Amino acid sequence: MASCQHYEQGFFNAYADMVEQDPDLIIHLGDYIYEASWGPQVRRQASVEAESLTDYRRIHAQYKTDPHLQAAHAYAPWLFIWDDHEVVNDYANLNDENYMPLEQFRARRAAAYKAFYEHMPVRLRSKPHGENMRMHDYFYYGDLMTMALTDARQYRDDQACQTPDDGGAQVVNCPELRDMTRSMFGKAQERWLMPSFLRSGATWEVLAQPTLFSRLFQKDRNGVPGSWSDGWDGYPATRDMIINAAARRRPKNFISIGGDMHSWWQADLKEDYNNPDSQTVGTEFVTTSVTAHSYAYNRFMRMLPDNPHIKFFDDRKRGYSLVDVTPQTWTVQMKEMTSIYDPTARATTRKTFVVENGKAGAVDA
Ligand SMILES: [Fe+2]
Repeated sequence: MASCQHYEQGFFNAYADMVEQDPDLIIHLGDYIYEASWGPQVRRQASVEAESLTDYRRIHAQYKTDPHLQAAHAYAPWLFIWDDHEVVNDYANLNDENYMPLEQFRARRAAAYKAFYEHMPVRLRSKPHGENMRMHDYFYYGDLMTMALTDARQYRDDQACQTPDDGGAQVVNCPELRDMTRSMFGKAQERWLMPSFLRSGATWEVLAQPTLFSRLFQKDRNGVPGSWSDGWDGYPATRDMIINAAARRRPKNFISIGGDMHSWWQADLKEDYNNPDSQTVGTEFVTTSVTAHSYAYNRFMRMLPDNPHIKFFDDRKRGYSLVDVTPQTWTVQMKEMTSIYDPTARATTRKTFVVENGKAGAVDA
């Protein structure tokens, strides 16, 4: 599992290490490209900020010049979901954080999706039509694993509680947050997902979504409890629907995988986050970024005492996750790069977590 690779912020040698592990499948959980330049630079991106089809094509083409990324594409099949940076930071459906006029944003999203389709090994059914491109899909691996690939950007309702000067993500607390008609996936994708979700009978039923799925209780700058409006805490109705399905349908095992956070997370998925003693209905793994940086260690560490379902967090290293799936166990090795500034550097294993078949929650291996 990989996520969040900024071309400028480091070399993609995580993929060299990944290829050495002989993977059968590589899944990218979003932010395969970054549309804009920010952070430390080991090399320069083709556009400071992509907006036109030419810009997005140049960025995709440039990413594909990285020899380690090329090697990983040559080595194994890939699956993809996307997050925001394939288009622009914090976009939601046809809304961007700067209130770009609708027709202008429609053209930008169409350009970004077209360039993505041209450069990525995705199914023919994903061929875009204007600003629309289908990415959600189910994948079945016999009775071992079912994977639902979801699209949490293209169809979502706009982030809750926005202000006139900020149309993106914030820590918020307003009545709109609790509007149960708001959706992370959009109603049509929910109608596609839910009838078969967690009902395949496979040993491992996996939700592939871009970010941290668990609740992350936090406070705003003034110490007032709030929710991060771009993440799942900003779309509680969709999360409740999925958690309730997990509690009712009783799959053999429910696993959520995600990226976006530029950090490792391992968590219990709880039936009721207000009650730490409630049933654990699944197990979550968030993989750190391939190169994109994080500067949030102290801020997240301060949140952990309020979030007892979160068993592990660290944002200080880049890397990927190596997952071994068998009928008995789901094992995740968190692979940390010793350096992303030296393309010959490789990974060490920071932590290994095991989920045993039929037992929600991970244990240290
Ligand atoms: Fe990212």
